Amino acid sequence: MDQRTMNIILIYIAYCEAANILYIVPFPSKSHDIFFRPIGLELAKRGHNVTVITSFDVPNPPKNYHKIVIERKELWDLIGTGRPNVFETIKLKTHEMINAILWQGGLPFTKHILNSSQVQEFLSKDNTFDLVISETFVQEAMYTLAYKYNAPLVLVSAFGNCMRHNIAVGNPLQLATVLHEFISVENPSSFIGRLENLYVSLYEYFWWRFWYLKEQESIARAFIKNLPPSMPSLYEMHQDASLFLINSHFSFDSPMALLPNIIEIGGLHATPEAESIPKDIEKILDESINGVLYINFGTNVKSSELPPEKKNAFLNVFNRLNITVLWKFEDDINTKMIPNVVVRKWFPQRKILAHPNIKLFFGHGGIMSTQEAIVFGVPIIGVPIYGDQYNNLLITEEAGFGKILNYYDINEVNVETAVNEMLYNASYMRKAKEISRRATISMKMDENKMKKD
Ligand SMILES: *[C@@H]1O[C@H](CO)[C@@H](O)[C@H](O)[C@H]1NC(C)=O
Ligand SMILES: *[C@@H]1O[C@H](CO)[C@@H](O)[C@H](O)[C@H]1NC(C)=O
Ligand SMILES: *[C@@H]1O[C@H](CO)[C@@H](O)[C@H](O)[C@H]1NC(C)=O
Ligand SMILES: *[C@@H]1O[C@H](CO)[C@@H](O)[C@H](O)[C@H]1NC(C)=O
Repeated sequence: MDQRTMNIILIYIAYCEAANILYIVPFPSKSHDIFFRPIGLELAKRGHNVTVITSFDVPNPPKNYHKIVIERKELWDLIGTGRPNVFETIKLKTHEMINAILWQGGLPFTKHILNSSQVQEFLSKDNTFDLVISETFVQEAMYTLAYKYNAPLVLVSAFGNCMRHNIAVGNPLQLATVLHEFISVENPSSFIGRLENLYVSLYEYFWWRFWYLKEQESIARAFIKNLPPSMPSLYEMHQDASLFLINSHFSFDSPMALLPNIIEIGGLHATPEAESIPKDIEKILDESINGVLYINFGTNVKSSELPPEKKNAFLNVFNRLNITVLWKFEDDINTKMIPNVVVRKWFPQRKILAHPNIKLFFGHGGIMSTQEAIVFGVPIIGVPIYGDQYNNLLITEEAGFGKILNYYDINEVNVETAVNEMLYNASYMRKAKEISRRATISMKMDENKMKKD
C-alpha cells in the first residue's frame, strides 16, 4: 500500500471515530472557564465535533468547535441583589451560602441559559449527539439534554469529590473522609468537625434532592420542548451518569475511595503555555533576583474592596520587603512611594507561578490557584473568603507549604509575621517543591496510562 492510500485510510478511520459531542459549561465564573475551556478545545483538536454552550467567547476556535455563547450574567444579578463586597460574604454560614447564593441564583441562572435565544435556536435544530458532557454546578436541568439526544451523560466538575458526586455514580459515600466542599472547620477530623460536616451534608442532600432538583426539573420542562411525560427524574439522570471527571488529584488531595468511573483530572489547567506574558512583566520577573511575592485574591474576590486599614497594612509590610511584589489590584492605587510594588489589573498567573524567581503566593485559596501553586511548587499564604477556599488551604497547611491567615486577622503585624516566616524559613519552599514533584510525576503517569488505554 502506498503512503497516500495509507493516509486516506487513516483519515477515514479518524473521521469514523470522531464523535459528536455536546459540551455544556455555561457557569459564568472565569475560574470555571479556565478549567473547562482546555477540555473542549482538546476534544476538538483530537478531531471530535464539539458543540459548546458557554458564557465565554473563545476567539479563533478550530472549525469543528461550535460555540453557543450566552450573555454572561453573574448569579447576584440574577438573584437581584447586585454584586456584594465579596469580603462580606465571609459572614455567611455554609448552609446559608448554599441556599441564598447557589440555589437562589442557580434557578434563575438555569432559566437564563435555557431561555436564551442562542440555546432556544440550537434546541430548535435537528441535531444528534453521541455524548453529552455537562458541568454539575447549579444547572442540573441541562442533564435533560442527554436524555433528549439519547446520549450517555458525562459529568464534569470544577470541584473535587463531594457528597453529590458520590451519589451520581454510585460511589460509596463515606462522610468520614468526604468533607463537604464548602465547609470551613479548623479540624475536620474532630468530633465537632465531623458533626458540622454531617449537618451540612444532610441539609444539602434533602433540600437538593427533594426541592432544588425538582425546581430544576420544572425549568427543563418549561424550556426544552417535546419532553415525554414519563421522563426519568433529574435525580435519576444524575445517578445514571456514565462517567464523572472531578477536579482533584490523589497526589495532593485527601485520600478517598473512588470507583473507576470517577476520574481525577485535577491540575489539568496548570499549564503556563496557556498564557502569554507582557514583555514588561517578564522583564520585572527576570530581574527580581532577590525574589517575587505575588498577591492575587482571584477573579472574584477583589483586592480593591479591602477596607483601607487592611490595604495599608499590606502596603506598609511590602514597603519594608527587599523583594519585588506583584499585586493584582482592580482599581487605581498609589504605590509611587513603594518602588518594589508593581500593580496591575491582571497578571498571567500561571506564567508568574512557574517563574524561577517566585518565592511566595499570597492568595485566597481558590481551587484553581491552589492547584497552580501545587503544580509549580510555590509556598502559599491564603485568606479564605467563601466556598471551598478554606478546605483547599487546609490541605496546603497540612502538607507544610501553606498558611491560613484569617480575614479578620489581617493587620500589619500578622501579615509581616506570616510573610517573613514563609519567605525566610526554607522548609515551606522545600515542601512546596516536594509536593510539586509528586504531583507532576503522577500526572505524567496518568497521561501515559491514558495514551496506552
Ligand atoms: C457538528 O455539530 C454541529 C452542531 O453544532 C452540526 O451542525 C454539524 O452538522 C456537526 N458536524 C458533523 C460533521 O457532524
Ligand atoms: C424567555 O425570553 C423571552 C424573550 O426572549 C421573554 O419574553 C420571556 O418572558 C422569557 N420567559 C421566561 C419564563 O423567563
Ligand atoms: C532581604 O531581607 C532579609 C530579611 O530581612 C535578609 O535576610 C536578606 O539578607 C535581605 N536580602 C538582601 C539581598 O538584601
Ligand atoms: C520552619 O518551619 C517549620 C514548619 O512550620 C518548623 O517546624 C521549623 O521549626 C521552622 N524553623 C525555624 C528556624 O523557625
